[in-house]
Amino acid sequence: MNILVLGSGAREHAICWGIKKSPKCKKIFCIPGNSGISKIAKCVDLNPQKKNTIYKFCKINKIDLVVVGPENLLEIGISDYLKKKFIPVFGPEKRASRLETSKLYAKKFLKRNNIPTGDYSEFSKIKESIKCISNREPPYVIKVDGLASGKGVMICRDINSAKKVLEDIFVKKKFGEAGKKIIIEEFLEGFEMSFFTFLDESGSLDLGYALDHKKLFNNDKGPNTGGMGAFAPSKLVSKELLKKIKHQIIVPTINSLKKERIVYRGIIFFGLIITKSGPKVIEYNARFGDPECQTLIQRLDSDLLEILHATANDKVKNCKIKLSQDYSICVVLSSKGYPGKFGINKLIPNLEKLKDTKNINIFHAATTKKNEKYFSNGGRVLSITSRHKNYKKARQNAYNYLKKINWKYGHYRDDIGEKNIK
Ligand code: AMP
Ligand code: GLY
Repeated sequence: MNILVLGSGAREHAICWGIKKSPKCKKIFCIPGNSGISKIAKCVDLNPQKKNTIYKFCKINKIDLVVVGPENLLEIGISDYLKKKFIPVFGPEKRASRLETSKLYAKKFLKRNNIPTGDYSEFSKIKESIKCISNREPPYVIKVDGLASGKGVMICRDINSAKKVLEDIFVKKKFGEAGKKIIIEEFLEGFEMSFFTFLDESGSLDLGYALDHKKLFNNDKGPNTGGMGAFAPSKLVSKELLKKIKHQIIVPTINSLKKERIVYRGIIFFGLIITKSGPKVIEYNARFGDPECQTLIQRLDSDLLEILHATANDKVKNCKIKLSQDYSICVVLSSKGYPGKFGINKLIPNLEKLKDTKNINIFHAATTKKNEKYFSNGGRVLSITSRHKNYKKARQNAYNYLKKINWKYGHYRDDIGEKNIK
């Protein structure tokens, strides 16, 4: 098969790496990709948002499957467009993607179907939203309705910072259209977990879970990011917990989608908080998580391409998941300053000397290559992902690579996976 992957992050690098291992993969293209991905796939400098350009590329290159990485492409209906022209696509159509692209839509879906989630109120004006927080105790969870590159959720510890956030949204219009409506949500306490399930019209197939580290600094301090690291499996996650997640969240979600006649072909990402009263959904995403994808695909011993292709063609019920018991840990190296302002075009020393091994992958998120040297060109730059049957070795190996890179313009958390031993 000839495969086209859309996107340019470490998640897409991991997806290409997984697909490339399949004996069924003939050619693999990535639009636009990055300089790490170009080592294993042919990267093509086209705009993935231009649906007709992508369609023409598929025809010329006899593409058998398109895999959509990021949510912004789902939101503009890339899957709807290609599907109408009979190109198999992994990634849900616009309507189903609303589970991710509108927090308010997702909340309403959860509530009307009695799927466990925090209570919330909806606002479109500053006055009412300030009134709401004035009547409540902190912390305040404020979420803009639309997509905001992982920056649309603000947890405020006191009323003044919450008021400032509301001003940013409604007066300064920091989030534009995405912030026209907001929700103020009950603060949920517990540990976070990301769970992934492939879904199509024939059935579903659970891939598994990973624990993400959303905050910028050690001990879950600092602002939210797209994710600074992930690991799995974890001793925090028992078989009983997995059963609860299955019965209280996954099965009801899939049944509700069916009941509401929402066709979903792709992967559902359940963002969960495991509270004292059980697992609750904080968000749905309509795609693989980044960096969760890197750890999961590294441990996947079944044929990824077979599963993606089957899902795009409503045949997922015939597939099986074989996930290794090894540990996998992914540590994100970001540009200093991310998720705020950061510089680009900074040389990343030593990167060209480091090689992937059987157990270590350097997935690139935002790099360019000039004269055999790598330079940064984004917020999250690399995902160092390491797999080992020994948990400590898996961690050590990832951190050793980061020490070898020793990037003065970079930042990473050094407590990824520590929760597992605490
Ligand atoms: P989301 O984009 O909805 O996953 O939110 C980003 C992050 O904000 C999550 O990973 C959590 O760390 C935090 N968060 C979101 N909703 C809540 C909530 N209701 N209670 C506590 N923390 C939350
Ligand atoms: N790591 C969380 C996300 O991909 O949204």
